[in-house]
Amino acid sequence: MNLNKPLNALLASVLGVGVLLSGAVNAQNYPDKPVTLVVPFAAGGPTDSIARLIAVPMGKSLGQTVVVENAPGAGGTVASNKVAKAKPDGYMIYIHHMGMATAQALYDKLPYDPMKDFEYIGQVADVPMVLLGRKNLPPNNFKELEAYIKTNKEKVTMANAGPGAVSQLCGLIFQSKLGVRVTTVPYKGTGPALTDLLGGQVDILCDQTTQTIPYIKDNRVKVYGVTTPKRLSALPNVPTLDEQGLKGFDVKVWHGVYAPKGTPKPVLDKINAALKKALADPDVKARLDSSNIDIVPVAKQNGPALQAHLDAEINRWGPIIRKANIPD
Ligand code: MLT
Repeated sequence: MNLNKPLNALLASVLGVGVLLSGAVNAQNYPDKPVTLVVPFAAGGPTDSIARLIAVPMGKSLGQTVVVENAPGAGGTVASNKVAKAKPDGYMIYIHHMGMATAQALYDKLPYDPMKDFEYIGQVADVPMVLLGRKNLPPNNFKELEAYIKTNKEKVTMANAGPGAVSQLCGLIFQSKLGVRVTTVPYKGTGPALTDLLGGQVDILCDQTTQTIPYIKDNRVKVYGVTTPKRLSALPNVPTLDEQGLKGFDVKVWHGVYAPKGTPKPVLDKINAALKKALADPDVKARLDSSNIDIVPVAKQNGPALQAHLDAEINRWGPIIRKANIPD
């Protein structure tokens, strides 16, 4: 007979209560210091802009500053891995777009599992994309672009933010539907990629509407089409890629907020409440509206909806990416 058994059981139960109590106290006082919101791409780009836009009202709701930290690299997978391995205490949270779903099909092996290593806080917003060219690129419309690329494919350069980035996904589908390969130039985000497009250093870029609409309206870049099945209210004269012959072109960039797996539920609930409040903020809505970005309905601003959407998107994009072939 093991005489230590009752003592062990007592110790275990005392320790267990201790852990529970400390968890409860942490959750109750949460947050008692600034919260870091990790962004998987460079500052000044679309994901960064949405993060900074919601960080301020979220911080107000939480009673602590929400500090945006850019951790770019490998199409967003560096940041995903960083957050997956972070302490699950609510002080590091994460915003990422649909790259959270597509990376699985673009990398042979990821060092994290998008369906197992995170807690899901809520969906955020859906962002359309546009296919852009540098201002002095010769083609003036999509048909001319198609012909230009087919005769100049060795020298045409297409910027993207690496495998896992939506600019890469969009470029991949574009090239696959066109049946050509161009030279890809990877950046740490479409913020710096757009700067180089404006400077004339790269030829074409698929980018989100978050920053691009004013440059299109000012004719500082050329626009060849939108990636959604319907035209955009902000750019009513720009045809969709689908209507210009790239049948079935349908890319709209969804976003979600995550935390490391094991973050206590009461903490997740506080972050979710702050996210919902931020998305209901009229200033946030006005800024996003001006870029043709749709805040998701309240029914999607929660963890189970994000988790289900991520699962569906992993299943949706896997076959499309494998068919389009090759990460760049
Ligand atoms: C960014 O924030 O730079 C973009 O979302 C990158 C991308 O996915 O194309």
